[in-house]
Amino acid sequence: MNPTSTLAWKALDQHAGQWSAKHLREVFKADPARAQRYVADACGIQLDYSKNRINDETLELLLQLASETGVAARRDAMFSGAKINNTENRAVLHVALRNRSNTPIVVEGADVMPDVNEVLERMFAFADKVRAGEWKGRTGAAITDVVNIGIGGSDLGPLMVCEALKPYGHDTIKMHFVSNVDGAQIAQTLRKVNPETTLFIIASKTFTTIETLTNAHSARDWFLASGASEADIAKHFVAVSTNAAAVSKFGISTDNMFGFWDWVGGRYSLWSAIGLPIVLSIGPDNFKALLAGAHAMDEHFRTAPAEKNLPMLLGLLGVWYANFLGSPSVVIAPYNQNLHRLPAYLQQLDMESNGKGVRNEGDKVDYKTGPIIWGEPGINGQHAYFQLLHQGTHLIPLDFILALEQSDMDPKHHAVLIASCFAQSAALMRGKTPDEVRAELDKAGVTGERAEMLVKHRTFDGNRPSNMMLLDKLDPAHLGALIALYEHKVFVQGAIWGINSYDQWGVELGKQLASGIERALKGGGGELDYDASTQRLIGLARARLSL
Ligand code: F6P
Repeated sequence: MNPTSTLAWKALDQHAGQWSAKHLREVFKADPARAQRYVADACGIQLDYSKNRINDETLELLLQLASETGVAARRDAMFSGAKINNTENRAVLHVALRNRSNTPIVVEGADVMPDVNEVLERMFAFADKVRAGEWKGRTGAAITDVVNIGIGGSDLGPLMVCEALKPYGHDTIKMHFVSNVDGAQIAQTLRKVNPETTLFIIASKTFTTIETLTNAHSARDWFLASGASEADIAKHFVAVSTNAAAVSKFGISTDNMFGFWDWVGGRYSLWSAIGLPIVLSIGPDNFKALLAGAHAMDEHFRTAPAEKNLPMLLGLLGVWYANFLGSPSVVIAPYNQNLHRLPAYLQQLDMESNGKGVRNEGDKVDYKTGPIIWGEPGINGQHAYFQLLHQGTHLIPLDFILALEQSDMDPKHHAVLIASCFAQSAALMRGKTPDEVRAELDKAGVTGERAEMLVKHRTFDGNRPSNMMLLDKLDPAHLGALIALYEHKVFVQGAIWGINSYDQWGVELGKQLASGIERALKGGGGELDYDASTQRLIGLARARLSL
């Protein structure tokens, strides 16, 4: 159903009007108990959503919207293995990958769990060998470096998790990630490693992605040029893919391939064999804890009442801002440094999932869908993009993310980190009134016309909303829960908007055009098919470089 035709949507439209005259500062004064009321906990994550432009009525209407648009039924369909990815006719079952309770999940009449468990066991056995130094390279030396070659979902998830869980990483094995087809990245990586002690993981769901295959061929050529033979490839190259034929064609034996299935979307795949670099880095037990954390969040999403359900609340708040308060974007501001790749990861997760303008039925949407997701570690953001959030003209809600405990925790540093995070969320909400600025200036001896001019510049409107997400600890289990929370937030929003969050036709056009332009750059025909601007650019590149 079109969400705009629900009673809740119409009521929310009306209700939104009253928020233009309300300020969160006043709302808190009138109702300080909201600080306790608008808090929900699950899986060691606390979501404090009290600093949002909402009240009990807003929440009630948003929950009604979820109910009228059938979010719970669609959630149950996903968990049951129904083919909710209708354009690709596929089930959406990343939840099966971390289904630690092992209850059967049936797709086309077969339980997928035995296959899931079998691949996990192979990954764990392989990782144990590599980590223990028992997997030998061609000269009998143990592996010291792992290079993951992949892009998008075959890169961002493993990279983000390996960074986030660095303190859990192997003592001596170093992880490297190559995604960009810019030859500089692979060249710089290869300069740091030794072909005799390096393991390459070629990670590609389709095994057709040009960036990954180009990098993989360069790595293979470099390896062979070091004196290795074709037979040695088996000791230094493994593949992660759903495409066994293409893996064999590349020259990697399927004995060295870890498979997954078409019901795992690229951006939802870090729990599958795509997570192999994570297992190699943090070890099977920590990877199991990551899976268990995600599974706990799955169970919470599946069973908790909507008003206490973290993904539901997060998703609904996002819909409130996107569709009723006119906000185009959301900032992800993690405060712990090891979460520094989380914004990039969530950018793909959310924008590739909900960046859609056509509803499941094929008609164009007549309302806003997925927001623009961006961010950087909050502490650095405070000295950069936060200016726009405080005094700019856009309404941009933030997700502050902070783990209260972590490894490598220096109490002195941690106090500054936590204080900065809480201070920003308070400042964005409160702002600073002209009278407060005037008093400050007066104290500093600035008065008269100059003071009045400065008052205008130094006043902060405030009323800028944010969520505060507190993790008990930055460890595998909490990280798993956090990622699953965002996956399900994206699900909730896609379900309300009635769009397919699990295809990505939008990225295909660029891929198609790129192969034609590459031929043209090398002197092949086809330029005439392009617009005048693109033709000029092709001509310019051809004149400057011999490719
Ligand atoms: O370009 C988009 C995309 O299709 C993503 O959805 C995917 O994660 C990425 O490319 C990599 O794809 P593959 O794993 O098949 O190489």
